[in-house]
Amino acid sequence: MELRKINNDNIWDIVKLKVADPQIHFVASNANSIIEAFGVRESGYTALPFGLYENDTPVGFVMIGYGSIGDDEEPSVVSDSYCIWRFMIDRRYQGRGFGKAAMEKTLEYIRTYPCGKAKYCWLSYEPENIAAKTLYSKFGFRETGELDGDEIIAVLTL
Ligand SMILES: CC(C)(COP(=O)(O)OP(=O)(O)OC[C@H]1O[C@@H](n2cnc3c(N)ncnc32)[C@H](O)[C@@H]1OP(=O)(O)O)[C@@H](O)C(=O)NCCC(=O)NCCS
Repeated sequence: MELRKINNDNIWDIVKLKVADPQIHFVASNANSIIEAFGVRESGYTALPFGLYENDTPVGFVMIGYGSIGDDEEPSVVSDSYCIWRFMIDRRYQGRGFGKAAMEKTLEYIRTYPCGKAKYCWLSYEPENIAAKTLYSKFGFRETGELDGDEIIAVLTL
């Protein structure tokens, strides 16, 4: 599993990746996430979108944030943290261990502190998203009791 930067060569391959219909409300489309990354970066904040590749096949998408993006209602942990902002494996490739491999690589990358030091990594998920909740908890993410909208916030100490 490999994180690859999104550029002219691969952007449309990554936009084509989709979750299963019952999962649509768990995560934004990759196109919307990439558009959001553009806006966030133009505003001077950090958003790092990557394609997830297994043996040269695009199988998923991850977007990493760092620190605040200037929103009023950010969780208390943001100032000293990275965020796994979007994370998905295409419906055709789920259930084969790619989510686990992708999370391993994502955390390995975050622990190189590409944007600067931080103590935590945080993320959030819908309460009914059992697959995500189980996966994240296996990597040590712990729920803080805070919510981001209706999503549960979980934090990992890096
Ligand atoms: C969550 C997601 C990324 C998992 O990817 P995946 O490739 O299917 O996951 P893996 O095959 O690597 O499984 C990893 C672990 O996740 C958990 N998991 C995966 N699917 C699960 C399910 N249907 N029910 C419960 N746990 C599940 C298990 O703990 C599994 O570990 P195990 O195989 O040792 O039991 C994928 O389901 C997905 O893209 N969902 C839609 C988008 C989404 O919800 N993103 C997260 C937004 S917060």
